[in-house]
Amino acid sequence: MTRHDAARGLILGIESSCDETAAAVVAEGRRTLASVVASQTATHAHWGGVVPELASREHLRNIAPIVHAALRQAEVGFGDLDAIAVTNGPGLAGALLVGISYAKALAFALGKPLIAVNHLEGHIHAVLLEQKLKQQSAAPLPMPALALVVSGGHTHLFLAEPPGDQPDAALWRYTLLGRTLDDAAGEAFDKVAKLLGLGYPGGPWIDRLAPFGDPRAVPFPLTRVKSKPHLAGKTPRTKGAVTSPVAALDPRFLFSFSGLKTAVLRHVETTGLRSSALAREAALQAIVATGRRPGVDEVRALCDQPTLDLIASFQASVVDNLLDRAFAAAESADPRSLLVTGGVAANSELRLRFREEASRRGLSVAFPSLALSTDNAAMIAAAAWPRFAAGRFAALDLEADPRLTLA
Ligand code: KG4
Ligand code: ZN
Repeated sequence: MTRHDAARGLILGIESSCDETAAAVVAEGRRTLASVVASQTATHAHWGGVVPELASREHLRNIAPIVHAALRQAEVGFGDLDAIAVTNGPGLAGALLVGISYAKALAFALGKPLIAVNHLEGHIHAVLLEQKLKQQSAAPLPMPALALVVSGGHTHLFLAEPPGDQPDAALWRYTLLGRTLDDAAGEAFDKVAKLLGLGYPGGPWIDRLAPFGDPRAVPFPLTRVKSKPHLAGKTPRTKGAVTSPVAALDPRFLFSFSGLKTAVLRHVETTGLRSSALAREAALQAIVATGRRPGVDEVRALCDQPTLDLIASFQASVVDNLLDRAFAAAESADPRSLLVTGGVAANSELRLRFREEASRRGLSVAFPSLALSTDNAAMIAAAAWPRFAAGRFAALDLEADPRLTLA
């Protein structure tokens, strides 16, 4: 018996919303037969951030080989698939278009249904997929859940409720409770890392270096977002461009990271850390130019103690803010569990402190595995499963929606 004989509801997931080209095959939204990710980090590292035109070009180059690799890994053929799921937003327009065009062509040629998946719903389903894998050993996560999606483009709080028994409630329901007014948390990590001469993406470097600094060395106060009646009907400015009016949201659940970023910049300038950051940037670029990735000890050796202290203090402050808003929302919405997901959910201090606080409050908390925290297509195929089961298919004229909202 081949692996697919035992599987029903085989969904091919395709993800290309930012700088990862990914394909995965997931059976019935719970068994991952294959998950392949081609990261473009090396391409964008040179520019210190994602360059949209380069991202589209890389997706075009990678999409077909990545899909074929996923099918090979899953030991299935195109004919075995039951549906093709693809991220249709939010994200970079040109990048999304590559995945969508490929998925539409496949669905048309194979005569299989096409399913459109919101990238943020994908991140939430990364945790649920992880939970299904663990179900033999652990009790299922109690619902409804408060979901904190925290990545390079998003910092959002949703109340997530599973499908009900009624036909009109066949899909998950999401209510937006909070979001960032400006930068996403991952964007703040990346910008601060860039300012300090560390590589791109900066989040993983800050995570690895923070344990060598004193998190209390530079006091960054909690950001307080005041009521924003003047924002009624307006949409906040963020890189992720997920736009929802914020006036209706409780200001206690709103995030803001641009002030923290400016405070770090001011600290760098007033304490004379700029020249050491430039020297570090040049030294790291010289290592990367030899085709080698620098190790953490090597990068640490290039950082003076005040820089390590700043890194630790910055990370602690981001986590302070995330904790403050997430648990304020938890107190108000009274969910039965908390999910933390997205690239920044890979952060060690964040995981530790969310676990501690949740256990203090008697709330279950769950994260995806590290591989499922950052962008991948298994989460897209998993999120597509309830839509497949409910027959909610997309038309073949599906378009990219860079500003797609979840709620
Ligand atoms: O979810 P993701 O792969 O892409 C988006 O949807 O944005 O998230 C990428 C973001 C980047 O900003 C990256 O710096 C951040 O996640 N990140 C981290 C860590 N690993 C990735 N931030 C903090 N600590 C980490 N360990
Ligand atoms: Zn993402």
